[in-house]
Amino acid sequence: MKTINEFIQAKEEGRKITMISTYDYWSARICEEAGVDCILVGDSAGMVVQGLETTLPVTLDEMIYHAKAVRRGAPGTFVVVDMPFMSYQVSVEDAVRNAGRIMKETGANAVKLEGGEEIVHIVEKMVGAGIPVMGHLGLTPQSVHALGGYRVQGRTEEQQKKIIKDSKILEQAGVFAIVLEAVPSVLAKEITEFVEIPTIGIGAGPYTDGQVLVFHDMMGFFDRSPKFVKRYLEGKKLFLDALKKFSSEVQEGKFPQKEHTYD
Ligand code: KIV
Repeated sequence: MKTINEFIQAKEEGRKITMISTYDYWSARICEEAGVDCILVGDSAGMVVQGLETTLPVTLDEMIYHAKAVRRGAPGTFVVVDMPFMSYQVSVEDAVRNAGRIMKETGANAVKLEGGEEIVHIVEKMVGAGIPVMGHLGLTPQSVHALGGYRVQGRTEEQQKKIIKDSKILEQAGVFAIVLEAVPSVLAKEITEFVEIPTIGIGAGPYTDGQVLVFHDMMGFFDRSPKFVKRYLEGKKLFLDALKKFSSEVQEGKFPQKEHTYD
């Protein structure tokens, strides 16, 4: 299993970091077998496997449920768990207690929090308590309503200055890596050069120290994908074909055969 020191070392040595966001036992097993560096149990679970419009309704108990399954599937992989909306924003005490629950109940290696300057006191407290924290800047989906929708961040000079400043503040607070989501690649490059900890991009171009994609997106399980997703498989088509074949074979009496039957 990788450690936070190895992620920082990877940046120093110019080795790219791979991270996959996923939520269950079987996909985590495949990620581990494929040798991905890190699994993120993202609160995107709310949208990807619960069919919600946003990540906001996802609960701490749901994240713990997903993280336990992922840990069972990938016992040898570094696992980061998203702290869901309102599990860390209300008070520092709440935040540390909730992060502690994630670490104790799931066997995760780290938690991820969205935001910059406004959450720095929380990050410091968690890091002080021995909990590794990953930051998340740019498009922060838990703030979708405040941002006016899912849109690229860091297009204006003001936004750029804030994201750059936030990245340094998070680094000083002790995060071991920062996810940069939906920002122009030149900005991601500037931040990546500016901080000593690794940046992991999603929709942030090629210059970050690592890349993260959502398992279901990259496997092509949805009809349409955002621009930044590369579909490494047409998973929906494969599943659809298999299900149609199953139905017609059952109708036609071709399944089950003798080899699928107990005597
Ligand atoms: O929730 C998630 O899966 C994420 C990644 C998209 C970075 O935060």
